Amino acid sequence: VDLRRCNTFGLPAVAERYLPLTDPAQLASPEFRQPPTLVLGGGSNLLLLEKIPGLTVHVLMSGIAHADGRGRFRVRAGTDWNQFVRYTLDNDFPGLENLILIPGTVGAAPVQNIGAYGAEVAEFITAVHAWEYGHGMVELSPEDCAFGYRDSRFKREPGRFLITAVDFDLSGRRPLKLEYGAITAELEAAGITDPTPRDVANAVTRIRRSKLPDWFFLGNSGSFFKNPVVARSHYAALQADHPDLPAYPIDDDYVKLPAGWLIDRAGLRGAGNEKVGTYERQALVMVNRGGATGRDVLAFSENVRGEVMNRFGVEIEREVQLVPNGTAH
Ligand code: EPU
Repeated sequence: VDLRRCNTFGLPAVAERYLPLTDPAQLASPEFRQPPTLVLGGGSNLLLLEKIPGLTVHVLMSGIAHADGRGRFRVRAGTDWNQFVRYTLDNDFPGLENLILIPGTVGAAPVQNIGAYGAEVAEFITAVHAWEYGHGMVELSPEDCAFGYRDSRFKREPGRFLITAVDFDLSGRRPLKLEYGAITAELEAAGITDPTPRDVANAVTRIRRSKLPDWFFLGNSGSFFKNPVVARSHYAALQADHPDLPAYPIDDDYVKLPAGWLIDRAGLRGAGNEKVGTYERQALVMVNRGGATGRDVLAFSENVRGEVMNRFGVEIEREVQLVPNGTAH
């Protein structure tokens, strides 16, 4: 099966075997005693190489269920993330407004703990339901999931679980998250002084549309690298040469640097060739300008990594999932 339309990068790839998963009952079949090569959701965080050997499972079971009518939801893994966010806002259960417009599925959200504009999905998850290969259905608590920045147990133990549904709690009235400078700037520009969750969702929508390419027109997988964590001493040394280098505090010893800034200042924003490059308005996003293969993207991204290492001595790690895995670093 051709997966070109099943990944937002628009990369050509062929699955040796393809199985749509539309009903959790299918998990009882012998096929699911071992992990497949690829579990595919929205295909928005993938770097697919040409041939995917073995089995590709496409998670297509979807649906949103109210657990109590007061903001607790059980959502099947194949549900589109943004549709879920819109559903909660339309029904007056705020909380996810900062996470609007993130591509992908609900089942993929906990895997890399999706986050944007000061929010992370982990803070809303009360349980993850999953099929444990060779074992059966399990329910994982947030602690079991070991969430971190763009990280979770599902990422650290690939091939152990297939997520079937996620439980969310949006019942608590939390204060709006407005720390992110671009949100406050957007609200100010719109003359909004007392924002509602809907206003924040609209602000985030405008920011995303201005900075991030629409994969329908320009193939991409969002941020290609993670923002690297460095020691504060390293940051101080870098600041001597680059006083305007931003950093986000993590703890007393570490800060997170914006990889997009590093790539940009290495002179690579908008760089590349006719097939693959970095996006003109956000250097952290790799784009398929037309006809790129996964190998093209991988090769170019390794150059970018190398340049950032040469210029700043900072190692940046891929955020997108390489399939099949184990091909490079
Ligand atoms: N910057 C540049 N040049 C660039 C890109 C960024 O100088 O080409 C600077 C910006 O000016 C800013 C800083 O770098 O000072 C950070 O940029 P931005 O606010 O765009 O956020 P990011 O750190 O690049 C992260 C997430 C995004 C998320 C945004 C907003 C990661 C890997 N990425 O990007 O998530 O939308 O913050 O919260 O953490 C994704 O994961 O696919 C994704 C889009």
